[in-house]
Amino acid sequence: MGRAVVGVAVTVAVATCAVAALVVGRRLRSRRKWNKVASVVRELEEGCDTSVGRLRQVVDAMAVEMHAGLASEGGSKLKMLLTFVDNLPNGTERGTYYALHLGGTNFRVLRVQLSGQPSSDLEHEVEVERQPIPEDVMTSTTEDLFDFIASSLKDFIAKEGDGLNISHDRRELGFTFSFPVKQMSVSSGILIKWTKGFSIRDLVGRDVAACLQEALTRKGLDVRVAALVNDTVGTLAVGHYHDPDTVAAIIIGTGTNACYLERIDAIIKCQGLLMTSGRMVVNMEWGNFWSSHLPRTSYDIDLDAESPNPNDQGFEKMISGMYLGDIVRRVILRMSLESDVLGPISPKLSTPFILRTPFMAAMHEDNSPDLREVARILNDIFEIPDVPLKARKIVVKVCDVVTRRAARLAAAGIVGILKKIGRDGSGGITGGRSRSDMKMRRTVVAIEGGLYSKYLLFREYLREALNEILGEDIAKHVILKVTEDGSGIGAALLAASYSS
Ligand code: BGC
Repeated sequence: MGRAVVGVAVTVAVATCAVAALVVGRRLRSRRKWNKVASVVRELEEGCDTSVGRLRQVVDAMAVEMHAGLASEGGSKLKMLLTFVDNLPNGTERGTYYALHLGGTNFRVLRVQLSGQPSSDLEHEVEVERQPIPEDVMTSTTEDLFDFIASSLKDFIAKEGDGLNISHDRRELGFTFSFPVKQMSVSSGILIKWTKGFSIRDLVGRDVAACLQEALTRKGLDVRVAALVNDTVGTLAVGHYHDPDTVAAIIIGTGTNACYLERIDAIIKCQGLLMTSGRMVVNMEWGNFWSSHLPRTSYDIDLDAESPNPNDQGFEKMISGMYLGDIVRRVILRMSLESDVLGPISPKLSTPFILRTPFMAAMHEDNSPDLREVARILNDIFEIPDVPLKARKIVVKVCDVVTRRAARLAAAGIVGILKKIGRDGSGGITGGRSRSDMKMRRTVVAIEGGLYSKYLLFREYLREALNEILGEDIAKHVILKVTEDGSGIGAALLAASYSS
């Protein structure tokens, strides 16, 4: 009897130990897998460091590269392209002008009616038609691309009623072409290279405005290409039209770039060019900026290596809407490979660019207590069902780290420009005056692009970094103004200023 009791007790004890060991083992395994994911995120955070000290190094590097790019052709990865725009619209423009805008996610055709008086409501004088660019057109031939563009304009004009105030015998248009172009004049220029996933080989090295002009003629349209402008330049034109304190324009959308007004004598490489106003807008092509101070991770290196343009557009690949979603996808894939907190590895995680940035932003900005939107997007896009709340929170953190870095780097870029033109508050300090009590001029920067205008957290991070780098006293004089369709409307305004 006694022996039987002991036997039972031993069996129970052994079973209890086994269950305990199982529970402990499971907990340990679970802790280990969460630890692995946590270390992926920690490593990402360290790699994406944008402390204010580092941002200041980026600011300095940007200003130095700007000088180098202005000094000689090929002097820097920053191309600092001449635009031949030496006068910005001021409101005296009159008549009806058109604009075509190619370069982002959508293609746009628009018509602007200008009264000859500055209008605070210019946007209401504008008729716009947008359409997504068919993917096959992005990689087709020059002729297909320009026939698509010219047909869109033809359809647009065909829908017009009478009563338009067209001040010339023929219609005139501004062409916003948002890629790096070496301009020969305000209305001509050759494509240097493609960016943002476009690739039509036979257009590189050719005059983009002439190709459009030929296509317009093929379609029987009597329309003259009066201005060929980068989207940044169009945005600066509209910004300046509304507010003459506007000195620079930034695009943060599918791609990213900046332009600003530079003194002619500072553009060493164009010595001898006579411009009437003593200034010229310079298209920086800052997407190609590079510096060893940029916080680069293994995800950036892989994304670059697998992109159609490796070693190119390094700054753009850390900042713009075309790429942010894909950086996040790469981190989620790595988390999945290291641990099964997201369940079995979904093959969708290996599909490049499957997570578009607007969906990443939607996950980042999901305010629901159970992160329902995050779960839905992970399920719909990656086919990963039932992700536990703890893992959803980690995904949100990843989006946060990637976006915060992007926004802060863009802020450093902006301060780099301000530094170059002496608007960062560091110049002009006279004997004994502190940085905070010197005079800082009101400085407006026009900004356009969906990543900035539609992504609140991005905007907040950018502003916060600007304040940190400049200090509140200086930063309060720097105004960031969003423009809508500015790049297109600005091209129409420039067509008016430079019309025949
Ligand atoms: C292009 C720029 C353009 C920017 C924003 C970049 O990829 O190189 O010319 O301004 O995207 O659209």
